[in-house]
Amino acid sequence: MLSPALNQALNEQISYENYSAFIYKAMQGYFEAEDLPGMSNWMNLQFQEELSHAEKIFRFVCDAGGRVEIMGMEAPNNKYSSPLEAFESALEHEQKVTQLINGLMEKAQAEKDHAAQIFLQWFVTEQIEEEASVSLIISQLKRVKDDGRGLMMVDQELSKRAAAPAAE
Ligand code: FEO
Repeated sequence: MLSPALNQALNEQISYENYSAFIYKAMQGYFEAEDLPGMSNWMNLQFQEELSHAEKIFRFVCDAGGRVEIMGMEAPNNKYSSPLEAFESALEHEQKVTQLINGLMEKAQAEKDHAAQIFLQWFVTEQIEEEASVSLIISQLKRVKDDGRGLMMVDQELSKRAAAPAAE
């Protein structure tokens, strides 16, 4: 049975994952407007992945005897000055998520909630991948700088991203 404090913290994380989803959806809108379909595809898949993260925590809270409550969230940023700025903002966001996940893990450890710790382990690993994939794109964008042809190549590369199998 989840403690009220951990239940509350997980509810906040559900809302934060939903917020993450809408940050990426807003970035997708920016890339659509910039005629960069590969980056739009990447952001749309990221949007879906964040929704699946929220759903995963939702299911755990319910199964662990907690009570889900969804909170309000601020509007995401819809304007970016360049693809690099959007991806840098995505990395900053993922670093914040990593901090939140680590905080949740510390709470679960302090409460000796073993089920929650095992559950959260998946997110700890996932954050390594999240940060790494965005960092790689940032490196590529920095390398191409203002070269339009290079940007098109990065965009083409990101068009290959396909939906990951559903998280278990
Ligand atoms: Fe669910 Fe990208 O953190």
